[in-house]
Amino acid sequence: MYQFAPDHDMNKPQLYSALARAAHALVEGEPDPVANMANIAAVIWQFVPDLNWAGFYRVVPIEGGSELVLGPFIGKPACIRIPIGKGVCGTAAALGSAQVVPDVHAFPGHIACDADSRSELVVPVMADGRVIAVIDLDSPTPNRFDEDDAAGMQMLAQIAAMVI
Ligand code: SME
Repeated sequence: MYQFAPDHDMNKPQLYSALARAAHALVEGEPDPVANMANIAAVIWQFVPDLNWAGFYRVVPIEGGSELVLGPFIGKPACIRIPIGKGVCGTAAALGSAQVVPDVHAFPGHIACDADSRSELVVPVMADGRVIAVIDLDSPTPNRFDEDDAAGMQMLAQIAAMVI
C-alpha cells in the first residue's frame, strides 16, 4: 500500500515538490508506461485540490501524421481522439508549451469533455525534443490555475517523460 498524503498548509511550490517526490517514488524502477501514467494521474488527483479531471493524452502515429489519444486518467469519460492543434490539449501538443486557460468558454476551439470544467491547464511531456504526451488538468472553478501550477506540472511532466 502507498500512503502519500498532501499537507494542506503547503504553498503551491511546496505542494508540487511533494507531488513530484511522490510521483518519482511511485514510478521508480517500473518500466510499464500504462501503470506509470495511471499512478501519476492518481497521485495528481490526490495532491492537487479542486480538479474534476486529471490525466494523459498520448501522441500516437496515424496515417500522415499523429494525433492525441486518451490515456490513463481520473474523472468522467472523455473524448478519445484529439487532432494536434485542436482544443487546449492539441494546442499544447502543437506548440510544445504549457497552456493555462482561465476560462475554457473563452478558448477558441476548446473541446468540452465534462460540462463542469471551467478552467484548464495542459502541459506537454517532452522526450528528445518531441512532445510524446500531454498532462491535462480540468477544474470546475474559473481561473483555478496560475504560473505556479504550470511550473509544478512541468516538473511532473519531466518525471513522466522518463517512464512512459
Ligand atoms: N478540454 C480539452 C479536452 C480534454 S478534456 O478536458 C478531458 C481540450 O480542449 O483539449
